[in-house]
Amino acid sequence: MKYEKTKVVLNQLVADLSQLAMVVHQTHWYMRGTNFLKLHPLMDDWMDDLNDQLDEISERLIALDGSPYSTLSEMVEHTKITDEPGNWDRTIKERLEILSKDYRYLADLYQQGIEVSDEEKDFSTQDIFIGFKTATEKRLWMIQAELGKAPERDL
Ligand SMILES: [Fe+2]
Repeated sequence: MKYEKTKVVLNQLVADLSQLAMVVHQTHWYMRGTNFLKLHPLMDDWMDDLNDQLDEISERLIALDGSPYSTLSEMVEHTKITDEPGNWDRTIKERLEILSKDYRYLADLYQQGIEVSDEEKDFSTQDIFIGFKTATEKRLWMIQAELGKAPERDL
């Protein structure tokens, strides 16, 4: 079968983007503290971006004759992004640190996708992965900057 490894990464992304959108939604709901007024609406924009990526990734998988996960239980079964029940005691800084870790995982998964799609010569999917990796790294830079840190990324 063609593009098998690329399709595995695409479906992994389906599960992880779904899960990350939920983590960002939790951040949106459960944040309390300085910068709430700015960060609360910002999380809406980030969720929109993740959902746009999810749709494009899923539809690319379908275009390759694949079948994206499409139930919450499948997302839970396959995602590698961890979660925790809502907790009012977490600070905004802690929530941003969680997002930094999760967005870094996502950027690394896009990198993995770039490499396997290269190997399989699926350059159309690779183009999608490259664009989303770039966007994810920009987001990582901003989260890290808010935390007073360097991007800490080998580009
Ligand atoms: Fe809201």
